[in-house]
Amino acid sequence: MAQKPPKTTVKIKSCPLTQYRGDLIIIPLAADGKPAASLEKTLKNTVSNVLRLGDFQAQPNETSVIYLDEKLPCSRLMLAGMGEHDKITPETYRQTLGTALRHADKLALKSAAVFTAEVPKTISPEKLAQSITEGALAGRYNYREFLKPDKRTTDNFQLTIIPPTEKLSAAFRKGGKLGTILANAQNRVREITNRPGNEVNPAVLAEQARKLARKYQLKCTVFNEKQLKKMGMNTILAVGSGSANRPCLIMLEYAGTKKKNIDVALVGKAVTFDSGGLDLKLPNLMDTMKFDKAGGCSILGIITAVAELKLPLKLIGLIPAVENMPSHQSYRPDDIIKTYSGQTVEIKNTDAEGRLILCDALSYAAKMKPDAIIDMATLTGACVVALGRHRSGLFSNNDQLIEQIQTAAQISGENVWHLPSGPEYLEDMKGTVSDLVNAAGRAGGSCIAAAFLGSFVENIPWAHIDIAATADTTKEKPYRAAGATGIPVKMVLEHLRNLK
Ligand code: BES
Ligand code: MN
Ligand code: ZN
Repeated sequence: MAQKPPKTTVKIKSCPLTQYRGDLIIIPLAADGKPAASLEKTLKNTVSNVLRLGDFQAQPNETSVIYLDEKLPCSRLMLAGMGEHDKITPETYRQTLGTALRHADKLALKSAAVFTAEVPKTISPEKLAQSITEGALAGRYNYREFLKPDKRTTDNFQLTIIPPTEKLSAAFRKGGKLGTILANAQNRVREITNRPGNEVNPAVLAEQARKLARKYQLKCTVFNEKQLKKMGMNTILAVGSGSANRPCLIMLEYAGTKKKNIDVALVGKAVTFDSGGLDLKLPNLMDTMKFDKAGGCSILGIITAVAELKLPLKLIGLIPAVENMPSHQSYRPDDIIKTYSGQTVEIKNTDAEGRLILCDALSYAAKMKPDAIIDMATLTGACVVALGRHRSGLFSNNDQLIEQIQTAAQISGENVWHLPSGPEYLEDMKGTVSDLVNAAGRAGGSCIAAAFLGSFVENIPWAHIDIAATADTTKEKPYRAAGATGIPVKMVLEHLRNLK
């Protein structure tokens, strides 16, 4: 019964449009741009007619399918709107192609060619092909694992990108290849993150990590409960104590260079289901909590893509994996837990579990003295309130890292907003019968949670990405399915690519 996510193969090929033999020709068009002067005459006339009639305004996410003269080998042309010409960015191309391919999927097509009449001055040819590829592949993704097979869905869609001139083929090929790796990593993460809690528990996630490690030649170590106990990872154990699905810590290692020091340690929250524990969530806040593993799942995508890209880096990925459940075994409010670092934490709310499993993983990462630590977590509802659904929260103890991640985020189209988490916020998290507490009211909820995390990284440059609002969405967009988004896979990959 299980249906796999759809596959899309991208090929770069110069070809006169009137000779293209596939199902659909896609022409991205700007609202105030003239119909591509480089179009062949018959097509140019057709496009001009549609524009003159005003049936197509080239607004963002607007598409229009035109049926072509039967003498042509391809029967369909799709105009795909990009909005104002001067506002076109790589993200415009991602969304435009996402929308176009989701439309093509509704028609059950098997192939399409995108004709890029021009390369905008502000975008390199390589970046253009990369953006088109990312948008197309991410756009075609739907979570279909538990749906009856649909004969109309095309499993291997053939996308041809036609560069404006033959000369640009090499650059386009490079961009297409990079875009394919990035989008496939993002979709891999979406697929695992979309699986519900009855399918993915900590042990299943560990098995998934092992499988990917074999495929991408990474080292994978899974610390089980017994080992965690011996190591003193008591916060991971405490949060996991209420569930029959036992907790673990997954560690992935990538060595793309022989040098000794670790460039970046990645840490990702994987709560395979967050019920809140004894401080049980209200029903309307509990559904969608299968997505609480998004940070950890992202690491699986990031580190495998780094291996595919063969980046000359040394990386480590740490994924504390737990299920947060209420039971007679659960950890309780008022419990005092001794963390791996030695600091003690009093539990004020069992629903503030993310920071607990992360703090032991962060201390473990810090002990390896990496150049930087980046953690990603669906950490706080407060971040949803503060920033809405359009940006992830960025917190850090290092100005350079802030700047680097802001830049990478902007380039990748996955936006962040820098929020504070300095020592004044940590003050709020100090305890009276313990060093720290795990929750301290609503004021600055995301900032105090980040400050809590920051107290476990010693002096290592550290960034925390709160993806509570961005990792999943209930709203389908014309260019993207609802469900897991794969954020922050692409921004972190962009950052890592810039380090080499
Ligand atoms: N996983 C949640 C955060 C979350 C909320 C993610 C909404 C996505 C959407 C986290 O474990 C949590 O429950 N945080 C609490 C903390 C509070 C008890 C201090 C929250 O944000 O309400
Ligand atoms: Mn919680
Ligand atoms: Zn949570």
